[in-house]
Amino acid sequence: MSTHIGAAPGDIAETVLMPGDPYRARWAAQTFLDAPRLINEVRGMLGYTGTWRGHPVTIQGSGMGMPSLSIYANELLREYGAKTLIRIGSCGAMQEAVKLRDVVIAQTASAASTPSSTIFREMGFAPSADYRLLAAAVAAAEEKGLTPHVGGIYSSDTFYDERADLTEQLQRHGVLAVEMEAAELYTLALRHGARALAVLTVSDHLVTHEALPAKDREQSFGDMVEIALTAAFA
Ligand code: HPA
Repeated sequence: MSTHIGAAPGDIAETVLMPGDPYRARWAAQTFLDAPRLINEVRGMLGYTGTWRGHPVTIQGSGMGMPSLSIYANELLREYGAKTLIRIGSCGAMQEAVKLRDVVIAQTASAASTPSSTIFREMGFAPSADYRLLAAAVAAAEEKGLTPHVGGIYSSDTFYDERADLTEQLQRHGVLAVEMEAAELYTLALRHGARALAVLTVSDHLVTHEALPAKDREQSFGDMVEIALTAAFA
């Protein structure tokens, strides 16, 4: 057991998918894994381990925001030996060309701050995805007939952001979408010699103000899970 994960040593696979929502972790494990077992329920942050095409896989909720994700990712990397961490989650589109339900694969994740950012002092560290994982995810998405957007995203500390001018500057610099976890995930994976990637589905749009109806989210979420699993074992 680690401080926030109740799994026994050896109960967590080297490959971990991390949705923000613990109920999505349960749904993804029950839908895509063979013989999924509940391995964590501390604070209701559900985690399951099973196999996908014979490969051991854990699907562990991260909670919302970088401070929460940082706790789970640190413990997975430092105490359970995780080697590949893939965030699967939703994002808000920041460019007109990025549409509702589109898949966004984050090459880099900009942030005003992360739980790690103070260690870099005045440096603006550039959290980036593992290249081979990213290339494999792009191929997996294309194989499914999807056309993913690949580029920079913004990992925000606020869902309800009042800073319209900041959003505008990020849009001017080609940032595709906003979410709240990837920058810290990428930083921690780089620090610990692991691979990380974020595969996201657009659930709402900052330009058009559309939002995906709840019933439409499951299919899009399923595509992300399959892309992540295919990329992890490519
Ligand atoms: N902002 C931040 N995080 C998000 C959003 C958003 O609009 N949509 C999904 N995750």
